[in-house]
Amino acid sequence: MNAPNGSSMFGSALLVAILVNSILVQDLPALARDRLPPELAALSDEELGRIARMSPLPPLAPDPTNRVADDENAARLGHRLFFDTRLSPKEISCATCHEPARTFTDGKKLAQGIGTTRRNTPTVLDAARRRWTGWDGKFDSLWSQALAPIENPAEMGGDRTTLVRVVRDDVELRKLYELVFGPFPAALCASANDPLHSPTPRDAALQSLIDRTTADLLKAFGAYQRKLISGRAPIDRFVEELRSKQPVTTTAKIDALTPAARRGLAIFVSQGGCYQCHRGANFTDEEFHALGLAGANGRVPDDPARLAAVDFVQTNPFNAAGSFSDAPNAPKAAMVRGLRRFPELFGQFRTPSLRGVARTKPYMHDGRMADLSAVATFYDTLEGASPTGHHGELVLMPLGLGAEGRSDLVAFLEALTPDESKLGVWEVDPIAPSVRRSASTLGR
Ligand code: HEC
Ligand code: HEC
Repeated sequence: MNAPNGSSMFGSALLVAILVNSILVQDLPALARDRLPPELAALSDEELGRIARMSPLPPLAPDPTNRVADDENAARLGHRLFFDTRLSPKEISCATCHEPARTFTDGKKLAQGIGTTRRNTPTVLDAARRRWTGWDGKFDSLWSQALAPIENPAEMGGDRTTLVRVVRDDVELRKLYELVFGPFPAALCASANDPLHSPTPRDAALQSLIDRTTADLLKAFGAYQRKLISGRAPIDRFVEELRSKQPVTTTAKIDALTPAARRGLAIFVSQGGCYQCHRGANFTDEEFHALGLAGANGRVPDDPARLAAVDFVQTNPFNAAGSFSDAPNAPKAAMVRGLRRFPELFGQFRTPSLRGVARTKPYMHDGRMADLSAVATFYDTLEGASPTGHHGELVLMPLGLGAEGRSDLVAFLEALTPDESKLGVWEVDPIAPSVRRSASTLGR
């Protein structure tokens, strides 16, 4: 590209500044100052704008890489598979770690399947909203993520051939598969010499058919998990009232946040600096940051995290740019191809969403913080963080909030969690285990 001369550069910079400014002004929903509770009265317009953007949650963006992302039968198939213990020789299903009654987490420090993994189990609620999935963003879509736990020897210890066989041999699962994807590939059907008899070795054509059928099934897992969306939380009622143009009739929605939570909110959007990364209605910038959390040796961070994830996602045959993607030229694919390795990526993790956070302890990628007050203490003091990081950012500074500020921050984080409610139809095991057993023998 030619370097622009000085004057046109000045001209375009000015234009950009004017444009950005007018977009920001439009984008900034006005919060009526006369409705503000006293705890927020001292905030600037910019800080109030950060609050205004915390709600409502936008509708789910489409996933063009998965042509069945919003197909109901695909979601039903994924729902059955998510709870299916036959995908693992040790009868571990997705729901073993992502337990519905625990907001789709397991309450453990590190996830435990056949073995112990290096990471804490995140919730799958709202996972469909993520730009990258996994703590280090190793996956560029929700559907491509599902294969890893199935085949990881420390998680389910299964394999894709078994996945395909379970669906082929289960009358109901196969019916759902065929409704969505068409006839089950004839070459994979049972015969005297069952092509799905053993996971290895096989010829390339057969393997590629198994991979293609696997990709279909992964897309069903994806369609299912798009149904798992977090409900309205106190913060939504609060922001709705602040944004409302109607006359105030009741303080119920303002009271959805206790005075402590409102003080915590003020910290969050101002001196606490939390909004810099945990921003918008998802409370995340969908980006990666190194907080300088000490490594296993107690000193420098030692998990390459995002640095290794970039290599992984670019070489993953199931990525958005690959031959199993339904939109290999969509923006997501370009994003994957455009990723670059920078040493700064070492130790960076994705900013997690904070919706539902009160129910997903313990915290951080390795579950090292037992509760929200430990998290608040960390950000307040940065104790245990390596100060300069390992290529670390210098975004974080000790806050000096003290005990009261920390507990206000915790009260605010709790208000990002939906009220306890009954599990919906998509959130429970679709069939009782006894029914599952007889249904599966039907297909054998
Ligand atoms: C042994 C416990 C375990 C099992 C079984 C398991 N997961 Fe997970 N899940 C995890 C852990 C740990 C992570 C984080 C992994 C990482 O980031 O390195 C995770 C991450 C995820 C994520 C990404 C969430 C996010 O916010 O980034 C999704 C989606 C997910 N799992 C879905 C599934 C599905 C679908 C299955 C079944 C096919 C499954 N999991 C089986 C433990 C488990
Ligand atoms: C520089 C970006 C950044 C800033 C600023 C920041 N966070 Fe975070 N936050 C992250 C990242 C990245 C993680 C995940 C780190 C990890 O797992 O190693 C995280 C993790 C968390 C978690 C744990 C979530 C979970 O599910 O385990 C909470 C709670 C949290 N942050 C709250 C806050 C609060 C409160 C503030 C302000 C005091 C704040 N964060 C400031 C980036 C940031």
